[in-house]
Amino acid sequence: MPKINIAIDGPAGAGKSTVARLVAEKMGYIYVDTGAMYRAVTLKVIEAGLTDGNNPASIAALAHKLSLQLKLSPEGQRISVNGEDVTEYIRTLEVNRHVSMVARIEEVRSLLVLKQQQLASAKGVVMDGRDIGTHVLPEAEVKVFLTASARKRAERRFNEMDEDSMTLDELEADIERRDRMDAEREISPLKQAVDATLIDSTSLTIPQVVEYIIDLCQARFGKEIV
Ligand code: CDP
Ligand code: CDP
Repeated sequence: MPKINIAIDGPAGAGKSTVARLVAEKMGYIYVDTGAMYRAVTLKVIEAGLTDGNNPASIAALAHKLSLQLKLSPEGQRISVNGEDVTEYIRTLEVNRHVSMVARIEEVRSLLVLKQQQLASAKGVVMDGRDIGTHVLPEAEVKVFLTASARKRAERRFNEMDEDSMTLDELEADIERRDRMDAEREISPLKQAVDATLIDSTSLTIPQVVEYIIDLCQARFGKEIV
């Protein structure tokens, strides 16, 4: 059975990475979390003290010098920068705060997009992000735009936090700020591809969304695809 690529885009906290990982597991595919790549670059931008928003050229120069390595497997993804495994350090509030600023920079995007396209060239990839269906893999055989209400997405993220560093309202405002920056940026903004299927997961469970996507694949490519 020939393999396909599946693109999953949508705003923060919609369930993209959870669902993409499970779909990849069911299909024996590789899951690629492109947000982790922008987060890893952002971590290094923070360490270099380049977060005041006025340093796009210095950030681009730094990004060119970084060597990102992804270790991909159906169980998940680990990410290293210049040989250091940073998987555990890229989900902090500080990275959340700066990542959309870094992700607006054209040179950063073109570096990462090229890497993402190489990873998907052999097919059999489930990739999640913001611009996968519109820009990174416009030929992906199945495209999903996964969303949920901002409140629900904030609640989900709130339940994941192990310390009370933010209130639910603050978290919702942070998510909405990031969505706005991602949707309003000039290059490859967050938006639904014309040929993507919209799934609103506000009142759907994770298994329901996974089943929905598997059904989409089977409806298009036959039962034997999974
Ligand atoms: O997990 P969450 O949805 O909060 O974010 P993420 O997928 O890890 O992405 C973090 C940030 O990276 C997003 O808010 C975007 O600014 C940026 N990003 C992007 O611009 N393009 C992508 N393909 C993936 C992420
Ligand atoms: O990758 P993205 O930012 O879109 O979201 P995620 O990190 O996969 O999901 C955010 C949280 O929502 C996780 O804790 C998921 O387990 C949870 N979730 C949920 O409870 N119900 C869903 N239908 C989807 C996600």
